[in-house]
Amino acid sequence: MFYPLIRKVLFCLQPETAHDFTISTLHLAGKPILNGIVKNLIACPQGTEKNVMGIKFKNPIGLAAGVDKDGEAIDGFAALGFGFIEVGTVTPLAQDGNAKPRQFRLVEAEGIINRNGFNNKGIDHLIENVKKSQFNGVLGINIGKNKITPLEKGKDDYIFCLNKAYNYADYITVNISSPNTPDLRQLQYGDALDDLLQSIKARQLILSEQYNKYVPVVVKIAPDLTENELVQIADALRRHKMDGVIATNTTIARDNVTGLKHSQEIGGLSGKPLQHKSTAIIRRLQQELQGEIPIIGSGGIDSIQNAQQKIAAGASLLQLYSGLIYHGPKLVKDLVQAIK
Ligand code: FNR
Repeated sequence: MFYPLIRKVLFCLQPETAHDFTISTLHLAGKPILNGIVKNLIACPQGTEKNVMGIKFKNPIGLAAGVDKDGEAIDGFAALGFGFIEVGTVTPLAQDGNAKPRQFRLVEAEGIINRNGFNNKGIDHLIENVKKSQFNGVLGINIGKNKITPLEKGKDDYIFCLNKAYNYADYITVNISSPNTPDLRQLQYGDALDDLLQSIKARQLILSEQYNKYVPVVVKIAPDLTENELVQIADALRRHKMDGVIATNTTIARDNVTGLKHSQEIGGLSGKPLQHKSTAIIRRLQQELQGEIPIIGSGGIDSIQNAQQKIAAGASLLQLYSGLIYHGPKLVKDLVQAIK
């Protein structure tokens, strides 16, 4: 109800300042003394339970990676009603990310461009925050590589994070699709992808014996893939028995924001301008995967209608980022209520 007003205030601030303020507020809202009050205020319905990857989700609406990179406000976001929360992207070592400003709102288009570059406090810090959280819903930990790690050694960073995160996550996301870490997207192709997925699968199986529990691993892909690349990725996901795929990350394309303020900033574009592109990728992936590997849909979800389009295209679960910024917590509530 109050979000249009809150948005006005937040949009007076630089996007990253507004983001940091929101995280601090939700960190506080997650404290036991306030959590109940926030939950009552929001009054989000339970939604429809869904079993995906052998995990029971209390509803299919999740928080996308990048919002709570360090897991500082997990309980606060949980109070908004999300069925699952994905923290990260986290890297082995803390890193600052790219120089600021590195986030830009394209308000007329309801889009965001970011070139954060995996700013985060490192996997150990994230795990400490996860341990402190009271959240009993589904928690995903999204992992990446440090910028200083050469691409040929990138695999070591993913394995390092997988080892550390395994016992604390309900699923783990391998992010090979951020446009803001130099060459990271190269890991989506050919031998590099095969090598990475093979190593991750082997390690996952060792860890599943060690901890006596199987934690699914999903791969997050870019929307900027050719038809051929998409078919090859789908084939690799199947061959390496990945448990899921998130489609999609942000786009480097600018075709539908030409001429808008900030549209030429370098980085990944998210929000409404990404909506149809990510849905098309989901649809094409589903044709290839035939339901064998579940798809988590992400990209420009800002209404019940387009959330339903992603479900119809083949997504089993959905994640939000930019829609939350433009439409506030009511979007979560509406989607949780409507999406069966
Ligand atoms: C992101 N996204 C992202 N994804 C990821 O896997 N790791 C990350 O660290 C980040 N960081 C990040 C920062 C910012 C400022 C934005 C806007 C986005 C991508 C995000 O999780 C999501 O996949 C896309 O933004 C598409 O969804 P929306 O924003 O259109 O709902």
